[in-house]
This record gives sequence, C-alpha cells and structure tokens, in this order.
Amino acid sequence: MEQKVAVFRKEHFNAAHRLFHAAWSDEKNKQVFGACANPNYHGHNYELVVQVNGIPDPITGFVINTKTLSEIVDQEVKSKFDHKNLNLDTQEFKDLNPTAENIAIVIYNLIRPRISNHLDLKIRLYETERNFVDYPA
Ligand code: NI
Repeated sequence: MEQKVAVFRKEHFNAAHRLFHAAWSDEKNKQVFGACANPNYHGHNYELVVQVNGIPDPITGFVINTKTLSEIVDQEVKSKFDHKNLNLDTQEFKDLNPTAENIAIVIYNLIRPRISNHLDLKIRLYETERNFVDYPA
C-alpha cells in the first residue's frame, strides 16, 4: 500500500517561563505579554503532539514505531525542558522568548534529525487548553 498515514504521539511536560523583551519596561512587557510577563515566572502544563506522516513500512506496517517516537521525545525534549525554567535553565531559550511558537520550532529542530528523511514531521504544542500552535504552519 502506498497511502500516506499520519501517526500521532501525545506527550506532556511542565515548565516555567517568562515572556519579555529586555529593552522594555515592566509595564510595556505586561501590556504586550499579559500574565506571561510576570517577572517572577510562572508554569504551564504543556501538551505536545508529535505527528509523523509517511507510507507504512511493507513489513512492519508502521510509519514509525510509537515507542521509538516516545523515546526520541524523552531524550530530545523532556530531558531538556520538563520541570525546568525555560528562560534560566535551557540554552535554547537563553536569548529566545519562550512563546509557544518558538518552543514548537525549537522542538521541531531537536526532533527532526532523529526522524527518517522520507517522513514528514509536524509539531502541535498546547500552552493551555485554548491556546496552541502548529509548526510547520
Ligand atoms: Ni506563560
């Protein structure tokens, strides 16, 4: 069979962050970033959906083994970000605002090298139940 199938793996991590632009006042940051600008940081329960699209392997019937995919997310994402302060504890967000958009791009770039070239990768990240992003768009 040559039909492409989308495979999804849901993962979860907690992390703290603060959204701000250093050159702006606390007032301006609060105006732009709202509660996420709190100078003393705050946490989110991030829900991560990793999507891999491809043609199932003729022998295994898998596009990708979801156990393997889960291990990749553990090694590349959760080990770096789970229970961390994204601004203070990670290299990735030292100089990059940890918005859902940027976190999704960073996660994509961490996972992409671990996924076969013939497979497509997409990242969906929920910052809250109501706010989520997709990368690539
Ligand atoms: Ni926030």
